[in-house]
Amino acid sequence: MQKNLLPIGVFDSGLGGLTSVREIKKIMPDEDIIYFGDTGRLPYGTRSPEIIKKYACDDMNFLLTSSVKAVLVACGTVSSTALGVLRDTFDLPIFGVVEPAAQSACRETACGRIAVLATPSTVRTGAFEREINKISPKAEVMSVGCPMFVPLVENGYIQAENPVTRHIVREYLSNLKDFRPDVIILGCTHYPIIRDIIHDQALDMIGEVSIVDSGASGAMAVKGYLEENGLLTSEKCGRATYYVSDEPHGFENTATLFLGEAVKDAVRINIDDYLYEKSAK
Ligand code: DGL
Repeated sequence: MQKNLLPIGVFDSGLGGLTSVREIKKIMPDEDIIYFGDTGRLPYGTRSPEIIKKYACDDMNFLLTSSVKAVLVACGTVSSTALGVLRDTFDLPIFGVVEPAAQSACRETACGRIAVLATPSTVRTGAFEREINKISPKAEVMSVGCPMFVPLVENGYIQAENPVTRHIVREYLSNLKDFRPDVIILGCTHYPIIRDIIHDQALDMIGEVSIVDSGASGAMAVKGYLEENGLLTSEKCGRATYYVSDEPHGFENTATLFLGEAVKDAVRINIDDYLYEKSAK
């Protein structure tokens, strides 16, 4: 098959990478997508770097059972912890979300104060600070780990009026009151699913802020690469195939709500059949 007709591979620990899928569907509607959400082993964002790297290699190993023309690591935790390992291990173009989100934030900020909301594992890596300061050495960055957001999203607590989610968002945002950023990066791809709640509460507690969606930023980086390399599809397809590593029902429900289109045929796979270490032996 011609390379440009191959799908784009996208993976995350669970639902978060759908923020990239939504953007791909918007800016490259004809592209086919193969999506893997490792729902059986989620969350990643509170785990050690060794485990995150291992899981990331397994996820890639599964995704590459389909031919794909590029992979988007639609997960802030894997992007900040394991992108180098993935690029050293697998021979195809691999994109993360940290660098593109840092670029968007540096373009957006007027006052030079950028906040990052991300998983504790991502915050520990300091990856967003590094990328932002490469572009804007004088920018000040404050990162806040928000470990409760992923379980809220995965359990479907995503409606704008949900009082539990609103309360927890306020709790985390209270850390930013004195810092007063004008840009907040949602550095975990799950967080844009509750973007409206975060934006609403930030408006109330901090003032007007621009929100950078790391999942969407990653999708834009992939588009740039495909365009530059003549790899955008020439056919009108736009099919998305979803795989998960646990019971698909909850994934399908929240995916349907978030994407605004029916997702009802997610396929459950056994990730233990695709462990990278085993297959590399
Ligand atoms: N979407 C992942 C990220 O961007 C979530 C991590 C998790 O599973 O905790 O970091």
